[in-house]
Amino acid sequence: MTARRNFLLGAAAAASLLISPPLHAQDTVKVGLVLPMTGSFASTGRQIEAAVKLYQQQHGATVAGKKVEVIVKDDTGTPDLTKRLSQELVVNDKVSFLAGFGLTPLALAAAPIATQAKVPEVVMAAATATITEASPYVVRTSMTLPQVATPIADWSAKNGIKKAMTMVSDYGPGIDAEKAFSDTLTKQGGKVENLRVPLRNPDFAPFLQRVADAKPDALFVFVPSGVGSIFMKQFLERGLDKSGVKLIGTGDMTDDDLLNDMGDVALGVVTSFHYSAAHPSAENKAFVDGFKKLNQMRPNFMAVAGYDGMHLIYEALKKTNGATGGDALVAAMKGMSWTSPRGPITIDPQTRDIIQNVYIRKVERKDGELYNVEFDTIPNVKDPVKAAKM
Ligand code: PHB
Repeated sequence: MTARRNFLLGAAAAASLLISPPLHAQDTVKVGLVLPMTGSFASTGRQIEAAVKLYQQQHGATVAGKKVEVIVKDDTGTPDLTKRLSQELVVNDKVSFLAGFGLTPLALAAAPIATQAKVPEVVMAAATATITEASPYVVRTSMTLPQVATPIADWSAKNGIKKAMTMVSDYGPGIDAEKAFSDTLTKQGGKVENLRVPLRNPDFAPFLQRVADAKPDALFVFVPSGVGSIFMKQFLERGLDKSGVKLIGTGDMTDDDLLNDMGDVALGVVTSFHYSAAHPSAENKAFVDGFKKLNQMRPNFMAVAGYDGMHLIYEALKKTNGATGGDALVAAMKGMSWTSPRGPITIDPQTRDIIQNVYIRKVERKDGELYNVEFDTIPNVKDPVKAAKM
């Protein structure tokens, strides 16, 4: 490089410094958002990323004098990749938060990195009860399966369901859902038979045949977000909608992202869950309207957990005056309460898990669209698995 060119470049750099002083590295707080953006669980990544974008559009990208920069990484739903990407985000990008985590094995893969680096891991999707115990830096804004599955078992007992079958995806949250539902209904005199379906590329047909043969009063289903429409299609193809077996479950099955495309087979399905796009509150109306306008789709429970996860990050930074030590941030998050689009929520100061209302809902057609319409509320539900240990 010639001396003249060097001089010119130096002068240009000096001029740009005068025009816009660059933010110092310590003026930017980075959030590493690790999500399945491709593959079978891409809808989870799409919903959470869209909600994070909405939160920043509404609240700005600066909090406590710091610019909040979100770095999205696609782990494709593969735990080894989640682990490597989380490590790179901590070591190379120096993120102050890890967030996202679309499935239980992905959240668990990142937990040792959060512990080692002392970086908060904000779990926005994964929902096996034990995840918060995998690291003292895990804080959750989604749900736990025992938290949302127990109320539908109580509802079943009260509504004459004596003989039930469960059909769950065969991994952490499915096993949690199966146990919570079965134990709760059995204690109230019910009989329950359990079926487990592989998580990846599920074929429900042989299991649905067993349900058709056994003719229980109800079939309880847990499938993770994104899988409900495959299940519903096979339920319809087997003629189970006309068999007299009542279809119930957690709201993952009647996910707001998929519900409209399921058609009439979904009408009347009763589920218990923490979020419905039809939740009647001013906060939810504003959230749903803003989300649809920005992203041209209906938000589901993944979106609301992503939105609340960003709120938790922003409010924790306000409390620490922008300081980014992981211990201070987690301490700031513990016990935090606010009104989410889903209703009132609190981060349990003992467990770092979420305390929230669980609603009983029924699929109905409203203004030509299918919605999970809430008709009963169980307020301030803690994760029952951890509550039983305390
Ligand atoms: C999970 O893997 O923990 C998980 C994923 C999606 C759900 C529920 C649980 O809808």
